Amino acid sequence: MKIVNYFYSASMKGEESRQVLYLVGPVGAGKSSIVEALKRALEQSPPIYALKGCPMREEPLHLVPNHLRPEFEKLLKVQIEGDLCPICKYRLMNEYNGEYERFPVVTSNFSIRSRKGIGVVPPVDPNNQDTSVLTGSIDISKMDLYPEDDPRILSLNGAFNVGNRGIVEFIEVFKNDVEYLHTIITATQEKSIPSPGKGPMIYFDGIIIAHSNEAEWNKFKSDHTNEAILDRIVKIEVPYCLELNEEVKIYEKILKRAILRPI
Ligand SMILES: Nc1ncnc2c1ncn2[C@@H]1O[C@H](COP(=O)(O)OP(=O)(O)OP(=O)(O)O)[C@@H](O)[C@H]1O
Ligand SMILES: [Mg+2]
Ligand SMILES: [Zn+2]
Repeated sequence: MKIVNYFYSASMKGEESRQVLYLVGPVGAGKSSIVEALKRALEQSPPIYALKGCPMREEPLHLVPNHLRPEFEKLLKVQIEGDLCPICKYRLMNEYNGEYERFPVVTSNFSIRSRKGIGVVPPVDPNNQDTSVLTGSIDISKMDLYPEDDPRILSLNGAFNVGNRGIVEFIEVFKNDVEYLHTIITATQEKSIPSPGKGPMIYFDGIIIAHSNEAEWNKFKSDHTNEAILDRIVKIEVPYCLELNEEVKIYEKILKRAILRPI
């Protein structure tokens, strides 16, 4: 119920739309399973419209120039938020001569395996906190072909890029260095993420779901330097199931999946 409340308020642009959904609870309580269920639900949801070729499966309405937005908003009865990613911006200017109505739009579904709308961040080695896992990198092989500030050298394949308009999941979130979590703060607070290299921030709109066990939460919470991120968290406790009939259901589920004879 608490998880549904989070999504409900976030969908109405409540404060939750700028906060991280954080599941905490003891080992084996079902945190990962809940997130898996959410991701599977997303895979079954209807496809979205996206700009063709955009690594972030961008909202096509980002094409609408700022001065025309009030008119479009009135016509479509929606609010247009956010701006083109550097790659689409470049293509709009160079391939379509700025004529935004010529930019092709496709439908696109969600897929865990093909990293479409679902980005996963596993805990990383604290000595190797490479932010390319989060926000992509510069493709060195293309640096001979294009100038340094050309968006065509960007590989926007980080978890925030692929999880745009969907879910970005942080597994065992507080095993990561705090520095690594700063992207979470800008993504929630400013709805934008850093661009690899020196480019301007890139608009991001998605759900950030994190989980970890209680020991890590307590350690993280006790450090007051973490206040900025603590402020952006909606914490939901995932306790052990303590009712016998509910526990029986868990075992039945696990047994149903297992092969009960050696093969
Ligand atoms: N309330 C529950 N309902 C259904 N299945 C459950 C429940 N609690 C635990 N399980 C089952 O127990 C197993 C362990 O759950 P899961 O891996 O999701 O836990 P976790 O909280 O992510 O643990 P960890 O802290 O080790 O990551 C899974 O097979 C899961 O399906
Ligand atoms: Mg888990
Ligand atoms: Zn784009």
